[in-house]
Parts: sequence; C-alpha cells; structure tokens
Amino acid sequence: MKKILITGGAGFIGSHVVRQFVTAYPNYHVFNLDALTYAGNLENLADIEAQNNYTFLKGDICDEDFINTLFETHQFQGVIHLAAESHVDRSIKDPLAFAKTNILGTMILLNAFKNLWQSNWEGKRFYHISTDEVYGSLGATGLFEESTAYDPNSPYSASKASSDHFVRAYGETYGLPYVISNCSNNYGAYQFPEKLIPLFINNIIQNQALPVYGDGNYTRDWLYVIDHALAIDLVFHKGNNHETYNIGGFNEWKNIDLVKLLCQQMDVKLNRTKGSSEALISYVKDRPGHDLRYAIDATKIQKELGWNPSVTFEEGLSKTIDWYLENTKWLDHITSGDYINYYKQQYS
Ligand code: NAD
Ligand code: TYD
Repeated sequence: MKKILITGGAGFIGSHVVRQFVTAYPNYHVFNLDALTYAGNLENLADIEAQNNYTFLKGDICDEDFINTLFETHQFQGVIHLAAESHVDRSIKDPLAFAKTNILGTMILLNAFKNLWQSNWEGKRFYHISTDEVYGSLGATGLFEESTAYDPNSPYSASKASSDHFVRAYGETYGLPYVISNCSNNYGAYQFPEKLIPLFINNIIQNQALPVYGDGNYTRDWLYVIDHALAIDLVFHKGNNHETYNIGGFNEWKNIDLVKLLCQQMDVKLNRTKGSSEALISYVKDRPGHDLRYAIDATKIQKELGWNPSVTFEEGLSKTIDWYLENTKWLDHITSGDYINYYKQQYS
C-alpha cells in the first residue's frame, strides 16, 4: 500500500482532498496530519473516518522532532501539504503565527521528506498547495499566469509566497520532486464561517448585518471546492515535477454582485420576502492592503491535464447554501465558543 501524508486534512479544502483520496484510491493509505487549530474539525470527516485506509494523526507541522519521527516511522512516499493559517484578516492581526506555520512548518516537512529519501526520488512526490494571492493584485484587466512574478501584499500571501519559494529551492538544490498549484478562492461545504461566503450565509440565517468591506468593488475568482479537490488529484498523479499549475474557475465576481446573488438565493430558500437579505448589507471599514482583483488563467491545467470546473457558480452556490441549511448542527458547533470573540474583535 502506498502511504500518503495529507497535512491540514481536517480543514476546509483538506477534508475534501482526504475524502477524494480515501474513496478513490483503496490501494493508498491516507494519513491525515492536523493540529486541529480553530480551523480544523474532525466532524468534517465523520463520513470516512472508519475507512480502513485512513488514519488521523494529531500534530503540529512546526514540531520538528515529531515530524522527523513520523516520516521515519511511516516512510511516506507522497505528501500533499495543505496545513496553513489561511485567513487574511487574521494574518493582519497576528502575522508571526502565519510566518511560523506557513513558512517554518513547510520547511520542516520539506526537510523531513529530503532526509528520509536522500536522493532516492523514484515514485516520490511533495505536492505543495498554494494560492493565487502570491501574485498580488491585478488592475481591471489581465490574468495571473504561472509565469506572473510574485508580488504578495498581505502577511498571509507573503507567507505563502515564501513557502512556495522554499519548495522550489528544495527542488533546485536537492532535486526534491515537487509540484505546486496556486488556486483561486474556494467555496463549498465545511468552510469555516470567517471567509466571505459561509460568513454571509450564517449571518443571513441569523438575520445579522452583512459586513461588506470598502465599496464592495473588489473582485475574486471563485471555484467550487470539489473541483479543486479533483484538480489536486489530477496534479498529484499527472502533473510534471518541478512545475506549477494555476487553478481557477474562469469565474470572476465583484464582491457586491456575489453578495446580491447570495441574498437572492437565500431569500428563495428561506421563503423570505424578496429583498429582505439584501437589506442586511452594511458597508464597513475596508481591509488594510486589500487586493483589488484576483483572476486566474487556468489554461495550462486545462490543456495539459484535461481539467475543467464541473459546476457553474450559480449551481455551486446553490449546493453550498443547501449544505449549510441542512447542517445547522455543524454550523452551531463552529459558531459557538471562540468564534463569538473572533467576530466581536473583527467586526465591532
Ligand atoms: P483552513 O484554514 O480551513 O484549514 C487549515 C487546516 O490546517 C486546519 O485543519 C488546521 O487545523 C490545520 N493547521 C493549521 N496550522 C497547523 C499546524 N501548525 N500543523 C498542523 N496542522 C495545522 O484552510 P483551507 O481554506 O482549507 O486552505 C488549505 C490550503 O489551501 C492552505 O494552504 C491555503 O493556503 C490553500 N488555499 C486556500 C484557498 C481558499 O480559498 N480557502 C485557496 C487557495 C489555496
Ligand atoms: P475572503 O473570503 O476573506 O478571502 P480572501 O481575502 O482570501 O480573498 O474574502 C473574499 C473577499 O470578500 C475579499 O475581497 C474581502 C471581502 N470580505 C468582505 O467584504 N467582508 C467580509 O466580512 C469578509 C470576510 C471578506
């Protein structure tokens, strides 16, 4: 059995990747390593936790001794690295936490992988999951290509950019067989309600204000999380070593237009009067260093690996809202406790 380590598998995207690998590859044993920070939640994996090709390991990627021992014990042939601090607003409040996990944690994993396999690279792969935010901000036109120069603006994107550079450096210096993908904004089931879409779904359910930063004219390129998980499967198996793949939905939305679409769908699903959710929109103080626009050119992964998004944004958003409306217990657990303090600090 091939042993694969997935880091951050109890988080939003990681849980979809773990589910994809555990169910599609019975010949793999999937180890999910996660520190279970505020963003990690084993409830995200309740449906697959009993599978005999799946093991959960609680641990911190910054704990060097623990990571080295883990690699020696299990001899992982493949690593898919998603563990990270992932929220821009939190990175503005606590940038050092982002440097620690995203940069140092990635280096500790790279080192453990290098020290374990030395130069015996046949059949081995280190796959680093990154973001389009490393490219910085676009103006009104243009797309991020794989060759676009890095120009990060937030502590989050700077830490991810740095980790990408270290992955490349290990490839160049030690010959470590890596692939990197840089993906646009994801949405879907199990996303922590600090990010735009689940936060606004929860607030609409609760009849609370919808805090739109600045004038709402910021643009993001949205991808349904299951399409990202399928792209990760493809890149892990078919991508070329020492290459980067951009992943995006060809699906740009200005925040305010997205929020209005969300409000319309929520009014229908909750049987509320047309316009009642939109009335909750409240323009609030802008995020410092707010990137104007992200948009991905995903031609390379389309042409070379045959990947395409499977759902339209309207369909994906509708499925996402349905999931949150059907999983109120999950949402209630997540939005109690520390979340209340986070919300007060961020939005009051
Ligand atoms: P998330 O915040 O939902 O999950 C992160 C997971 O990592 C959590 O389960 C958390 O417990 C775990 N973790 C954090 N620090 C850890 C540590 N020190 N050791 C072990 N585990 C730790 O994040 P997400 O949105 O699922 O993002 C996953 C990855 O994908 C990240 O690397 C992120 O940069 C990247 N990414 C995210 C998006 C997006 O839209 N969410 C887009 C592109 C790329
Ligand atoms: P977010 O989901 O935090 O993702 P990212 O910052 O990584 O793109 O935010 C998406 C967009 O929504 C971004 O332009 C910031 C904006 N936004 C708001 O207007 N209000 C909010 O409360 C949040 C969380 C985000």
